[in-house]
Amino acid sequence: MATRLFLHSTDPELTARMDPKVRRLIEQRQRTLKKALQSRLKRARTITLEIGCGHGHFLTAYAERFPEEFCIGIDVNRRRIDRAVIKAERSRAKNLWFLYAEAMEFLKFLPRTVKLGKIWILYPDPWPKKRHFKNRIIQAEFLGALADACRRSAKLHIKSDQAEFMEWTRDLLLASDEWRLSRRQAFPELATTVFQTLTRGKAFAVTARLEPMEKADNQKLPTHCDD
Ligand SMILES: C[S@@+](CC[C@H](N)C(=O)[O-])C[C@H]1O[C@@H](n2cnc3c(N)ncnc32)[C@H](O)[C@@H]1O
Repeated sequence: MATRLFLHSTDPELTARMDPKVRRLIEQRQRTLKKALQSRLKRARTITLEIGCGHGHFLTAYAERFPEEFCIGIDVNRRRIDRAVIKAERSRAKNLWFLYAEAMEFLKFLPRTVKLGKIWILYPDPWPKKRHFKNRIIQAEFLGALADACRRSAKLHIKSDQAEFMEWTRDLLLASDEWRLSRRQAFPELATTVFQTLTRGKAFAVTARLEPMEKADNQKLPTHCDD
């Protein structure tokens, strides 16, 4: 239940049906997030975002490697974010911010002046049972909200150890009017994440580029791949 609350708490119909106590907690969390984003991102224009960053291994190494990018890692698991924050404090990167936030809420409250340039999603929860597919983070609505927050030509990188989950992801990207699959995968091997270790490094990857299309254009494309 907790995960469903996190995944759908920006949906007004669902929040209306929630236990008022839970709803108040979520509203409080959203107010805190909105304030934090407004005050911290006053001067930012383009950011690199990792969704479901866990303990922060990947983004800490990434921010050190790419000091010119402002990197934000978010996760709904507070304990994991606490560990990521400690990692950021120990790191020499000054361009790194880990934040307790749910992805749809983050996209909703991200100031409109700030655009996503790169998005990384590593080993998202695969929810392998059919009745749980609705809990997967990759959904048409999510890809649309992500596209709205991106600058043109933004890149979305997703990696998972689950072949079936990646099929699902590819199908949704192919069906979208905004994202185009790239042939080239660009996953810098900068650090090993917790779930990368747990899954013994088994990985399928997909990279997509934001390129809003007219419906008719979309249908003309035989493979829907760019470069
Ligand atoms: C399987 S773990 C992978 C963690 C990390 N990327 C790694 O490779 O070790 C998936 C992570 O996504 C987070 N998560 C799930 N749904 C989320 C959401 N809607 N918004 C933000 N984080 C989410 C979970 O809390 C969890 O830490």
